[in-house]
Amino acid sequence: MKFSCVATLISTIVGSSAAFSPSLFDGARTHSSQLNARKPFISGNWKLNPQTKAEAVTLASDIASKITDSTPDVDVALFVPYVFIETAMDASGEKLMIGAEGVCPEINGAFTGAVSTSMLNSVGVKWALAGHSERRVIFGENDEYINGQCLKLIEEGMAVMLCIGESEAEYEQKLAGAVCAVQLKKGLAGISKEDLDRVVIAYEPVWAIGTGKVATPETAQNVHSKCRAILADMYDQEAADAMRILYGGSVSPESVDELMSQTDIDGALVGGASLDSEKFGRIINFQAV
Ligand code: 13P
Repeated sequence: MKFSCVATLISTIVGSSAAFSPSLFDGARTHSSQLNARKPFISGNWKLNPQTKAEAVTLASDIASKITDSTPDVDVALFVPYVFIETAMDASGEKLMIGAEGVCPEINGAFTGAVSTSMLNSVGVKWALAGHSERRVIFGENDEYINGQCLKLIEEGMAVMLCIGESEAEYEQKLAGAVCAVQLKKGLAGISKEDLDRVVIAYEPVWAIGTGKVATPETAQNVHSKCRAILADMYDQEAADAMRILYGGSVSPESVDELMSQTDIDGALVGGASLDSEKFGRIINFQAV
């Protein structure tokens, strides 16, 4: 196991039955003990896809069919467009956690087009993305807004996958660690250590998203370990050791095994390949080398 502090964690979790809220993982593969710290987490982000409800049904059910008894012990989630959430839940037969691609940090009122945490919660959604680079860049969501989303999700009893990552220019200027530090500190501001079991980090270097330029396992591992050190500084080592940090950016069947073999890479957030059930099925069924 990648994890060096299992004994500490087990005692923490046993001492705090709320440490892992089973409801957040209901409907997914919760067959393992909740004591399985840093359980791998493979997730897909459909973005603005697919184009019809019929396609969403087929894709969700085809992906669910790839989860079999021989699949590694992983959490699997799909973040899908709002309009397909309930469809994907029905089609995947509770084998997958279905999450939202975003949420409004406001709870109600005059926010045309927005969807609140309570709306999502009421249809059984437990997870949402926050801070995806496409939301930051295209939709202008800044760290304060993203922090509002994180806080509102936690307040609602839900969970958040906070996406962070540097641009290509920042990468070239060796600012990956610095950018991640700012985004982690601002994104998680006000979230207590006790609530961190409902937070997952996705490190997605912007230059790797949709480009086919997957980060090398060494590059990704290097940033992931920096992120863990930043989390240790923000909280403590125990919290940092328990946090799942996923890699995203052109993950494919060809790259997943080596990425998942890195000490600090605990899963993947997959865009393009999550729209192909064969490819995503292979990613779910990764084989650490
Ligand atoms: P790709 O896997 O298509 O590069 O997308 C990554 C991503 O943005 C997931 O959120």
